[in-house]
Amino acid sequence: MRKLAAGNWKMNGTAAELAEVDALVASHGAPSVDILLCPPATLLSRMSDRAGDAIATGGQDCHANVSGAHTGDIAADMLVDAGAGYVILGHSERRTDHGETDAIVAAKSTAAYNAGLIAVICVGETEGQRDAGDTLNVIAAQLANSVPDAANGANTVIAYEPVWAIGTGRVPTLEQIAEVHDKMRADLVARFGETAKDMRLLYGGSVKPSNADEIFAIDNVDGALVGGASLKASDFSAIITALENA
Ligand code: PGA
Repeated sequence: MRKLAAGNWKMNGTAAELAEVDALVASHGAPSVDILLCPPATLLSRMSDRAGDAIATGGQDCHANVSGAHTGDIAADMLVDAGAGYVILGHSERRTDHGETDAIVAAKSTAAYNAGLIAVICVGETEGQRDAGDTLNVIAAQLANSVPDAANGANTVIAYEPVWAIGTGRVPTLEQIAEVHDKMRADLVARFGETAKDMRLLYGGSVKPSNADEIFAIDNVDGALVGGASLKASDFSAIITALENA
């Protein structure tokens, strides 16, 4: 399996920030891991044109339907048309800001598969759920209900992102990350069989150059979904290099 360094720009970036992509292309011409950047939809097409073969691009959401009267939404085919190979689905900010349920995430993931996109399906517990000792049950339920039956190692990436670690500078202990990733792998293999051994399991939440090495050394961590530290080429490049060296 090729590991994956994924950047989620969220609602950040205009044309000026495409210079960061140029810098990444210059320093990672033939990477030994997959590199993905998910910019705002307004930048997707331009970023795809500049990212070349070494860097894949993706959307941050798609609609479950292929077209229609859904003002402000984007269909999976439109992401493909703009150059995307991936789409992030079920990010906790979408679940919170837009009321996305596991069922909605599953429907969007199916739409992504139908368009030929790789779905990066996000799961993660809140701080209250962790404090209550519910983390493993919450993650198991999100996986069971957000990941469609058609998932396989080629069309699906799972990102474990504890809600309380996103954008906060707080990171779970290495043991806590390992516990969740081992459980996710076991659950996915139990449901999908051999193909789930190839499903990349990313950790996300305050990944930085300074903590990437130790996170990437954990079994069943096959890369990262990086928010803030993906906005600057220098930081994201250091994370990519850490993954290449893991
Ligand atoms: P962060 O965001 O790296 O800024 O914590 C991660 C994410 O939400 O994907």
